Parts: sequence; structure tokens; C-alpha cells
Amino acid sequence: MLYGVSLGPGDAGLVTLRAKRVIEQADEVIVPGRLAENVVKNYREEVRVVEFPMGNAEKIVDDLSTELAQRCIEEDIAFCVLGDVAFFSTFQDVFHAVKQKNPGVNVELVPGVPSFTAVFSRLKKFVDSSFRVTSALDGEERYVVVLKAVKSGELAETLRSDGYRVVQVERMFMEGESVGEPKEKSSYFTLLVGWR
Ligand SMILES: C[S@@+](CC[C@H](N)C(=O)[O-])C[C@H]1O[C@@H](n2cnc3c(N)ncnc32)[C@H](O)[C@@H]1O
Repeated sequence: MLYGVSLGPGDAGLVTLRAKRVIEQADEVIVPGRLAENVVKNYREEVRVVEFPMGNAEKIVDDLSTELAQRCIEEDIAFCVLGDVAFFSTFQDVFHAVKQKNPGVNVELVPGVPSFTAVFSRLKKFVDSSFRVTSALDGEERYVVVLKAVKSGELAETLRSDGYRVVQVERMFMEGESVGEPKEKSSYFTLLVGWR
């Protein structure tokens, strides 16, 4: 199994219990840099650092994914990144390359605390309306998340007319979780996620 593990913004106390368990139990843990290594070292002595230098990352991704595509059939290997692994993370390219080389590799992503939510706690600011997260180095917004998506059918139609593909996620990581096509109406614990 290949794990993509979120470490949170940098304080070892903000690593989730699930991430800690994966880090402790994996056959090998890989990190893309020293900051991530420092966090992991709180939970495990042996950590392998693989740097992804700008301009030379392609070769590193190719070599590493060839290795992981083979090893992750028999072994549990965790690739740990700062923040949340699903956002702007080095793991993205490794994940796609491994899947391309060996679709049989099982992958689990362990979510964590992203910098852009943690910063509001740091600032003691409460977010109580829609908000934007953008990247200064990347292009247009291509993802949208709608909270409190009770009228999911109607909301999904609006998103689709803006060119988004839409998925409804209800009771995520809870009992009764469902992921799929937006229904007409949903419970309060529903997110709509769109991407284009
Ligand atoms: C490649 S993105 C990775 C985002 C990360 N996966 C996350 O969920 O926060 C790197 C950017 O995240 C922000 N970032 C991540 N951790 C941070 C921290 N502890 N303090 C301030 N900014 C941080 C910075 O803007 C940095 O340029």
C-alpha cells in the first residue's frame, strides 16, 4: 500500500492520530524535505529524505515512482508532506506516476490540517462566509467546495452551468458516508465538490 500522509503546518502536535499510526507502522517513510523530516522524526527515527529540486524533479519522480510501483504491492510505504496532502503537494506527481506504472497499487490519502485553515486559528479569526484560496504561482480557480449543500440538486445545476463536474459527499469519514451524484436534497452534513 502507498500512503500519502498529511503532516499539518509544521507542529508535531498537529499531526493526526491516523497519520501518526501510519508513520509508526509503515515499512518506510519518505519525505520531500527537511521541514517534513523534522515533524516525522517526532514519531519515527528512520526517515528517508528525497529532495525534488526545481527543474530536476521529473527524473526524481520517474525513479521514485518506478521503485514504489513495485515495492508498494508487498510493502507499506508512506510519503509524508506538510499541510494537507491533497493540496499543492509533491505527492500528486508521485501518485499519478505510480498509478500509471502499476494501476494495481492501492493508495490511501490521510487528510490533515492545511496551512490555509490553520492560519485562521493562528489569527483568532472566524470564517463565517464564503472565502477564496488562491495560489500566486498558479492559474485560474478550477475547484469549488460548497458547504451546507442541503439543496444539492439546484446547487449542482448552477455549478454544472459554469462548467464544473460535481460530486456530492455526505457524512464524510462518518458512519453512513456516501459519495456520488448530487441528489435533489441532502442532509446538512453534505459538501458539493466541483472541478473543471
Ligand atoms: C506547495 S504549498 C503546500 C500547501 C500544503 N499542502 C497545505 O495544505 O498547506 C506551499 C505553500 O503553503 C503555505 N504554507 C504551508 N505551510 C505553511 C506554514 N506553516 N506557514 C505559512 N505558510 C505555509 C505557503 O504559502 C507555501 O508557499
